[in-house]
Amino acid sequence: MSRAVLVAGGAGYIGSHVCKALADAGAVPVCYDTLEKGHAWAVKWGPLERGDIGDATRLDEVFARHRPAAIIHLAGYIEVGESVRQPERYLTNNTSKTGTLIDAVLRHGVEAFVFSSTCAVYGIPQTDLLAETHRLAPISPYAESKARVEQALTVAAGRGLRAASLRYFNATGADAGGEIGEAHDPETHLLPLAADAALGLGPALTLLGTDYPTPDGSCVRDFVHVSDLAQAHLKAIDWLAAAPKGGIHEIFNLGSGTGYSVRQVIAETARIAGVAVPHGIGPRRPGDSPKLVGDITKARLGLGWQPTHDLATQIEDTLRWRRKMPR
Ligand SMILES: NC(=O)c1ccc[n+]([C@@H]2O[C@H](COP(=O)([O-])OP(=O)(O)OC[C@H]3O[C@@H](n4cnc5c(N)ncnc54)[C@H](O)[C@@H]3O)[C@@H](O)[C@H]2O)c1
Repeated sequence: MSRAVLVAGGAGYIGSHVCKALADAGAVPVCYDTLEKGHAWAVKWGPLERGDIGDATRLDEVFARHRPAAIIHLAGYIEVGESVRQPERYLTNNTSKTGTLIDAVLRHGVEAFVFSSTCAVYGIPQTDLLAETHRLAPISPYAESKARVEQALTVAAGRGLRAASLRYFNATGADAGGEIGEAHDPETHLLPLAADAALGLGPALTLLGTDYPTPDGSCVRDFVHVSDLAQAHLKAIDWLAAAPKGGIHEIFNLGSGTGYSVRQVIAETARIAGVAVPHGIGPRRPGDSPKLVGDITKARLGLGWQPTHDLATQIEDTLRWRRKMPR
């Protein structure tokens, strides 16, 4: 891969790891980000173009300057709880503005569009493992905003767009080189919160709900290392390049295929850190599903992708990153 790839949201957690993977593969990652949530320090492997995905004029400038061969679209708001309180914010930033981005991609004839979707689009699971064919029944405005983008991509495939939606399960861990990692504000994700609590760098963790219909009452999630996720984006670009000519929109789950409960993650973090993870019990968070674990057969067979980092490695990398990250 030798050409520019536009990475919308490239200053964020997953986007910065995608940029690193692209650079390692010989591409030039052009980060397009407002920096509202991301960090300039995380943009290390290519130029930073500040801009909003809802700004058609700015997109035209950046597409004309860099002529990207592909776009990876990770830009968006990510907090499930906030989306329940402020749904319009999510439907505007995540869905409507992506419409502007899709139009720009079609205008400039970009050959591949890879979109960051989420397992949250499935809602309450009807099967043990979630395959891409599971019904979509979002239970939060965040998930709804992503499901609507997927629909828009299917429509745009009718106009010639070549797109892949990657439904991530829970991204965790940090770059093995220690240069980048998860730094959300506020942080709402389990592994960094558990790590901070264990290391005395943050408050006690609050376990959000212990009365779910799961073996130990806490939510069950499928955790996948961010560097494994990053590799899948490169494979999705290659997959689109090899797909039959014409418009296309294909969807792939990206997870580990294994579920761990919140209580199991707390116990494993304590074991690896060698100290207890201070935690208390709180109420369920609106918008959370009891269990989300992916069937990743399609990504394995279709993309030739296989996650390689287990939960212990994800926790070790998170602990290492949280000790040294800029705060
Ligand atoms: N983190 C996860 O576990 C997870 C799981 C499923 C899906 N996702 C999706 O992956 C993507 C990346 O997640 P993340 O954890 O890296 O989030 P993040 O907040 O770290 O990164 C998102 C980036 O997008 C930028 N951004 C937001 N709105 C923008 C806009 N309108 N124009 C330009 N830039 C904008 C932010 O400044 C930020 O740098 C998101 O779309 C998220 O919904 C994440």
